[in-house]
Amino acid sequence: MLDFDEPMSPEPKTPRLQPLPASKRPAPASVAAAMPPAAATRIITPPSAAAAKDRTVFPVSTSLDPVNIGGRRPSADDVKIIGGRGYDLRQPVPFKYPEVRKRFLDARNNFWVPSDIAMGDDKMQWNTGKLSEEEAWMFKTNISYLTASDNLVPDNLDNALLENITANEMRQYLRWQMAEEANHIESYFFILESFGLDEKGQGQIFELYHEIPALTNKLNWNLTFTNNVVNCDAPNGSPEKSRALLEDLISYYIFEYLFFPLGFSQVFALARQGKLRNTAQQYQYIWRDENLHAINGRWLIRQVIVENPQLWDAQMRERARAIINEAVNLEAAFAHATMPNGGITGLSVNSYIDYAKLMGDNICRSLDLPLLFNIKEHPMPWLSEYEMKQEVNFFEGRVRDYRTGVSLEWD
Ligand SMILES: [Fe+2]
Ligand SMILES: [Fe+2]
Repeated sequence: MLDFDEPMSPEPKTPRLQPLPASKRPAPASVAAAMPPAAATRIITPPSAAAAKDRTVFPVSTSLDPVNIGGRRPSADDVKIIGGRGYDLRQPVPFKYPEVRKRFLDARNNFWVPSDIAMGDDKMQWNTGKLSEEEAWMFKTNISYLTASDNLVPDNLDNALLENITANEMRQYLRWQMAEEANHIESYFFILESFGLDEKGQGQIFELYHEIPALTNKLNWNLTFTNNVVNCDAPNGSPEKSRALLEDLISYYIFEYLFFPLGFSQVFALARQGKLRNTAQQYQYIWRDENLHAINGRWLIRQVIVENPQLWDAQMRERARAIINEAVNLEAAFAHATMPNGGITGLSVNSYIDYAKLMGDNICRSLDLPLLFNIKEHPMPWLSEYEMKQEVNFFEGRVRDYRTGVSLEWD
């Protein structure tokens, strides 16, 4: 296995192709003629050698830019996490952010398959009435919401983030994350299929997010941030677009770090009562992935801030707190809708909402924002039994320099 800390192999194992002598080379084709008209409009020609040193003369690089003959390799200084200019996004080196590549390799090592988890006990319980009516309602609404939201996350990466991320290693990671989210959807589908539910029975559960306002609202809330980026008319790299993107990144972080673990806790509460333990195991694997996605979301926000400190002004910091507060309110409404009688055995609505507040505070803490709720103790410490060991300490990064409030550096 490739050890990330070791230098990459310096020599290719196959002999290099020798260039043709000049007399045998084909005549160079006209670049513009070889391209469709729309692509030809994006040929990037620096106005002069002197001006080429000023990267601001280039438009922000996008994945739709044509490959231009004569395009040059970026230097590490050129590469930016968003708003990088004048280089081709298909060029994988230099690695500006080696930790992101490591995240990709770690995630790939974690890949798992839902059908590897035996579901026989859960099938028996589901079909012999082992779940109370309240527990069954909570489970159905839970899996309906999670399935819809695991569709929203990769769609957000596709529609909003990949169009704006200008570091190849992060684009690679996000592509891998999209595959993992697809695997999570397969897991939810596999769970209901394993219960013996036919397409009609599965559909009646999956479609609940269309019927319960607390679920619909929570999904549309995240979707708003995606649409704000996609519908922003300002160019990539502009302050307006970058602010919309930063808000969308906070929403992405909330999905991975708050909405998903809260949802998983409902099924872990059932498992503690000896119910749906196979399903809980599926959720454990999903949670492990979501934790790594949350680490990536937090890293992205902080890196955008480090490289664009002007974005993290007092107004944006207050907006970030408001977004986190909105998320906790949505989670509280979700709790009441999925547990309409105040909870189930082993999980009360109140402790669930306190857990949401705790996670909201943790997000504030990790972005160096004032806390919103000041929750002192974890209301459900038993959840740690269901959290699979992580290779990375979630809060290992700490603010080490906080000078003006707009200039953050992170260990
Ligand atoms: Fe997911
Ligand atoms: Fe995720």
